[in-house]
Amino acid sequence: MQLFEHFPLKDRHTFHIDAFARYWADFDSVEALRSVLKDPRFATLPKLAVGGGSNLLFTGNYEGLLLHSTIQDLEFIPDGASMVRVRAGSGLCWDDLVEATVRRGWCGLENLSGIPGNVGASPVQNVGAYGAEAKDCIVSVEAMDVHTLEMHTLSNADCRFGYRDSRFKKEWKDRFIICYVTFSLSKEFKPNIRYGELTRHLEEQGGVTLEGVRQVILNTRAAKLPDPEVLGNAGSFFMNPEIPNEQWERLRTRYPDMPHWLLENGRVKVSAAWCIDKAGWKGKRLGNAAVHDKQALVLVNVGGATAGEVTALCEQIVQEVEGMFGIRLKPEVLFI
Ligand code: EPU
Repeated sequence: MQLFEHFPLKDRHTFHIDAFARYWADFDSVEALRSVLKDPRFATLPKLAVGGGSNLLFTGNYEGLLLHSTIQDLEFIPDGASMVRVRAGSGLCWDDLVEATVRRGWCGLENLSGIPGNVGASPVQNVGAYGAEAKDCIVSVEAMDVHTLEMHTLSNADCRFGYRDSRFKKEWKDRFIICYVTFSLSKEFKPNIRYGELTRHLEEQGGVTLEGVRQVILNTRAAKLPDPEVLGNAGSFFMNPEIPNEQWERLRTRYPDMPHWLLENGRVKVSAAWCIDKAGWKGKRLGNAAVHDKQALVLVNVGGATAGEVTALCEQIVQEVEGMFGIRLKPEVLFI
């Protein structure tokens, strides 16, 4: 375990905005986490787990203890003839896990290639892309209760996963620190290529292979999404909103080309990127914060942006989109 005081966060979150944490602790095992949490110095301080910082915006200094997992264990457990379970430490880089499983020919995580962040964050916001979500493969999550210091194994059903959502974002937010996530993967390749753009690229490429899907996804992401090491950002800044069917029926008469997806619950999911784009915000800049010019859902730090600038840009977009479409966008990024 390593503990730091007055810890600079600039390189610990992908927006790369200046801020400090009162305390930062790296823990590389369940025991190390337990010993930090037992320390009386931190008893009354707020605590928060951070992974790769790819979904966070620090709006000021953090006057508490940030807990950063560096648990790197990776265990493969046979599960019958056609399946395998992978138990991964929360501190592993997400894409290293995806790469390791694809290399072994195991299917399930390939559509989630190239997502920044660590394994421990994957169940929190149920990361998703190109027609797949982490919940499709998560079997269970092992997490420590910060009050009792006991480990709990939470099943997929316990976590109540939804679109970019789980109980870890709600009532479990201040309770559990994730240490391991177990995934169930298939040794047989069952491609999930319903996502329009993916199908097109794979057709151009010829046959569909597991490695091929990963490569197409890495290329697609690289073409649209800015590399946070070059241009600070936190991926999609907003969630795609779900609206009632009646509202969609009214909107479609005015905007028939608005991308949309009919949901099982009768509601309609619409594209936040398209709304922001249509409202004229793509590529626009406010101080040193801007809307990315290739994907309107991504807000970027063009260099030296303050959290205030990013927040102001976010608020202006929310207001204008609401004025134009009657839809209130919700940030996916967590403001701290
Ligand atoms: N579009 C525009 N303008 C833009 C960008 C997109 O009109 O600037 C339109 C596209 O033409 C398309 C629609 O919006 O019809 C959807 O765009 P895209 O396929 O790029 O996906 P998205 O809904 O904007 C979501 C995820 C991404 C994920 C992609 C691919 C959310 C909040 N975002 O974006 O996830 O990579 O789908 O599956 O659900 C992330 O969460 O950080 C993230 C990058």
